[in-house]
Parts: sequence; C-alpha cells; structure tokens
Amino acid sequence: MKIGNVEIKGYAALAPMAGVADRAFRELCVDFGAAYVVGEMVSSKGITYDSKKSAELLELSDKERPAAVQLFGNEPDVMARAAEFSLKYKPDIIDINMGCPAPKIAGNGSGAALMKDPDLCGRITSAVCSCVDVPVTVKIRKGWDKNSINAVEVAKICQQAGAAAVTVHGRTREQQYMPSADWDMIRQVKKALTIPVIGNGDINSAEDAAAMIEKTGCDLVMVGRGALGNPWIFREINSLIGHDRPSLPVSAAERISVLLRHIQTLCEYKGEAIGMREARKHSAWYFKGMRDAASLRRKAGTLTKFDDLIELCKMINV
Ligand SMILES: Cc1cc2nc3c(=O)[nH]c(=O)nc-3n(C[C@H](O)[C@H](O)[C@H](O)COP(=O)(O)O)c2cc1C
Repeated sequence: MKIGNVEIKGYAALAPMAGVADRAFRELCVDFGAAYVVGEMVSSKGITYDSKKSAELLELSDKERPAAVQLFGNEPDVMARAAEFSLKYKPDIIDINMGCPAPKIAGNGSGAALMKDPDLCGRITSAVCSCVDVPVTVKIRKGWDKNSINAVEVAKICQQAGAAAVTVHGRTREQQYMPSADWDMIRQVKKALTIPVIGNGDINSAEDAAAMIEKTGCDLVMVGRGALGNPWIFREINSLIGHDRPSLPVSAAERISVLLRHIQTLCEYKGEAIGMREARKHSAWYFKGMRDAASLRRKAGTLTKFDDLIELCKMINV
C-alpha cells in the first residue's frame, strides 16, 4: 500500500508510544519486519521554541524507514509551522495526533480533544498539508466519549482537508486503553474513505493482525502494546499473512539476546544513566512469560548499569 507517494511494504506498523517507542526500539522493530514506524508525539509549541527535548524526539535514522514524526497541538498555524520545522529531520510522513487521552494533552484542547471540534480537525489538517511536501496523516479515536462517536465524520473531514491516510484506534477517549477496541468502527471508517485506513487496537499476535484485516478491510494494522518486549510480532505477522519464511517460536536465548541488543542501543543513544532507567520497564516486558519472571522483573527494577543486565541475563537458564 501507499501513503501518498510513500510505499509501505508489509502488513504491520509500529504505533507511536511516548516514552517507549524511541529510536532504539523503532529500529529493532523495523529489523524484525515492521513496515512503517511513527515517532513519539512532539509538542508543536515545543518545536517552534526549538527545544532540545523536541529535537531528540524528532530524530529519525536511516535504519527506521519509512518513518513519521507525530505532532500534537490545537492551533492550525502553530501546527503548520511545527510541521515545516520538522522537515529538517527528514520524515517520510507527518502524522497529527488526534487521539491522546492524557489530561496534560487532551485537557489543553489537543490530542483526543480535537475530535470534539471536527471543523478544527479539518483546519489543522489543511494548514499542515499546505506547508509541507510530504504526506500528512491523522491518528484518531472512535470519538471523545460514548455520546460523541464521530470517527467516520472526523475521518471524512480530514480526507477532504488533504490527509493521505487515517489511523483509527477503536476506543473513545473516555475508554483510554481499556476495554477491548471496537474493530467495527475501523470497518466503518474504511468503508467511508478512499484514502488508506490503518487499524489499531488490541493486536497482540499474528492471528489478531490477520483477523483485523479480515474483519475491517483495513490497509495496514498498527501494533502498540503488543510489540513491547515482543518485537518479533512483526516477523510473525509477515510470516502468517505474507507467507514469509515460517516464524519459529521465540526461544529464551533469543529473547535474552534481543533484550541485550535493544538495551545496548538504547544506552548508546541516550547514555547509560537514562538508558538503564528506561531499560527497567523494557526488561520486565521481555521477561514476561519466562521461568521465574516475577523475580527477574523485581531485579530488573533495580538496574543501573548495562553490566548489571548482562550479569542478570547470565543467571537465566536457557
Ligand atoms: C505508553 C504508551 C504511549 C503512547 N503514546 C502515544 C503517542 O505518543 N501518540 C499516539 O498517537 N498514541 C500513543 N499511544 C497510543 C498507541 O499508539 C495506540 O493507539 C494504543 O496503545 C492502542 O493500540 P494497542 O492496543 O495496540 O496498544 C500510546 C500508548 C501507550 C501504551
């Protein structure tokens, strides 16, 4: 499938996940077959102040292509300027966040709060499209709450305003990340649009990905939490849907070697102090389902040096 002029080869994208899906993790997922990745959300206001934090979040490497930067905000002109500024990081695509439920984002009228004002969604999309020469996409939810389910309306307005694709997370803002996502909403949006639709919510296995494509007709699936500590989900999806090489079950030895590779890259990019602090949650996700997982997770919570992680992994019987 294509998003604008950008070819996406494969079946599954990595979802934007602030604080988790950073450059190290995105590169790893691409290595395992992710067809497309979206960076962590970045404040449109922060970008225009040229903050160091924004610059770090915007950075994309050659090992993670095609890739999007994702912007949040609620002022069309600020979003347009931020999009223009972000082009220096060479994104293949610019995505607009219309789904974040967090109070500090949605409480300020950005993220999912934009869906309460479909006309503003259109004006932001149009302003961003008119300032950049890369495809612009939007990521929406089912609606704000159960009394305002308007994904189809918002998606159509964004398409009309120039969006090249729409990602639909089948939950309202009120539902945050639970209960299960409404895939029928994704089907309804797909039916109503002519641009590609990316389906998101509750893909935790290759079978889930195949089921979502079958039930919704979406052009691409997007995996969020199902990829945490589990980047090989992309290999498994490509194997099941694309009939790539059969994907063998992941052994404990592979789990450990991928964890070490992931954290080594994380430390390289962010320095050992920050890298190892972030390694605690990643390690816990990799350890899920392993023998003595509870004890491993407890030990992961105290990691401070990369060497500590090597020692911890040596203690695991594979
Ligand atoms: C830790 C975390 C951070 C997230 N950060 C973002 C973000 O920056 N931008 C965004 O559009 N969605 C964000 N999301 C939402 C995911 O992209 C995705 O829509 C959601 O997790 C549902 O997909 P899943 O069921 O596969 O996890 C985040 C989700 C999680 C769990």
